[in-house]
Amino acid sequence: MTTAKRGGDGGRVLVVGGYGAVGATVTATLGDWFPGRVVVAGRDPDRARRLGGVRVDLTDPGGFRRTLEELGDVAAVVLCAEPPDAGVARVCLGSGVHLVDISATPRLLDDVADLHGLAAGSGATAVLSVGVAPGLTNLLARRAHEAVGGAEHVDLTVLLGTGDRHGGDAVRWTVEGLARAPEAGPARTGLPGYGTRTAHWFPFSDQHTLPRTLGVAGVTTRLCLDSRPLTAMLFGSRRAGLLRGVHRPAVRRALTAAFGRVHVGDDGFAVRADARRGVRHAVFALTGRAQSRVTGLVTAHVARELLTGGPPPGVHHIEQLPALASLPEALAEHGVALWRPSDRAREGAGRALC
Ligand SMILES: NC(=O)c1ccc[n+]([C@@H]2O[C@H](COP(=O)([O-])OP(=O)(O)OC[C@H]3O[C@@H](n4cnc5c(N)ncnc54)[C@H](OP(=O)(O)O)[C@@H]3O)[C@@H](O)[C@H]2O)c1
Repeated sequence: MTTAKRGGDGGRVLVVGGYGAVGATVTATLGDWFPGRVVVAGRDPDRARRLGGVRVDLTDPGGFRRTLEELGDVAAVVLCAEPPDAGVARVCLGSGVHLVDISATPRLLDDVADLHGLAAGSGATAVLSVGVAPGLTNLLARRAHEAVGGAEHVDLTVLLGTGDRHGGDAVRWTVEGLARAPEAGPARTGLPGYGTRTAHWFPFSDQHTLPRTLGVAGVTTRLCLDSRPLTAMLFGSRRAGLLRGVHRPAVRRALTAAFGRVHVGDDGFAVRADARRGVRHAVFALTGRAQSRVTGLVTAHVARELLTGGPPPGVHHIEQLPALASLPEALAEHGVALWRPSDRAREGAGRALC
């Protein structure tokens, strides 16, 4: 079994999707922190080579293995594009190469988590649930959970800006999520700077993985947009069954293109975690601008921790690594504002956030 190649050895970082909306920030930030050690990758050979990188397709784990062997000294792989399965993760973790994965699809995260033993055996570490949602939502959920002494239920709310420049793959993922039947009803929630909003159930992976990592019985994640009319129109259409056709590629393509063109709000986003245990209620929230950029910054911080810190080998979600618990504070210099806890032992604790 290969032993993990640590960043201290000067190994390189392969950023797959490194010229996408999220990946561009990851590439630039890691390039500043580790000059000469970042290799950009994607399917477009011209784009990748223009940036001094290599062509890689995540749907081809065999080709990915050959690329790793040719490069020879890759210490960590950062996935800023979602692979179809855990094939590429298996190649990395079986070869002692660290992995950061920003994927947001529950089934995929479960399949990579199943590689824990493989990673532990090779000395490699993988971090999952990296970004804003999942990512910062997981970290706030953990804080709120601990503030009430172990939550019975956690509610997560995500607000996205319709004026933001979301990447093509992220918009596609969101459109596909609209086809899913809601597993919980809507809820009214105060979000700092946005007032009280109605948010609707959405298939973010945090609510799927947090019950296991935190030991909470139930977690629910809801989404709203900064534009109230657009939120109402979108989720009203879902309720009326008008979005079922999203399964069909042509409808999905049309909706993805339409969403890519909508710019009615600005680029702000907000995230809130509410934990409840009996009458105890704790709230943590944060706001920021440019969701893709902040996702990229979170990802770069996680990659740096893998390269310079010593997280234990194995597969972990972001909230399981104590060294990453203060990441929201570390992002303050990039305009991320953390709203302090309001763990009053009564309902309505979040009102102060509005
Ligand atoms: N956790 C979070 O909070 C969070 C937030 C935002 C986005 N995301 C996820 O991050 C991913 C990227 O989002 P984005 O907004 O950056 O999208 P994007 O702007 O479309 O970028 C995707 C990048 O990945 C490359 N790519 C796509 N498929 C690939 C494949 N099979 N093999 C190799 N490279 C591939 C693309 O280049 P080529 O087309 O040239 O290959 C492009 O550079 C999405 O899966 C999204 O769901 C997660």
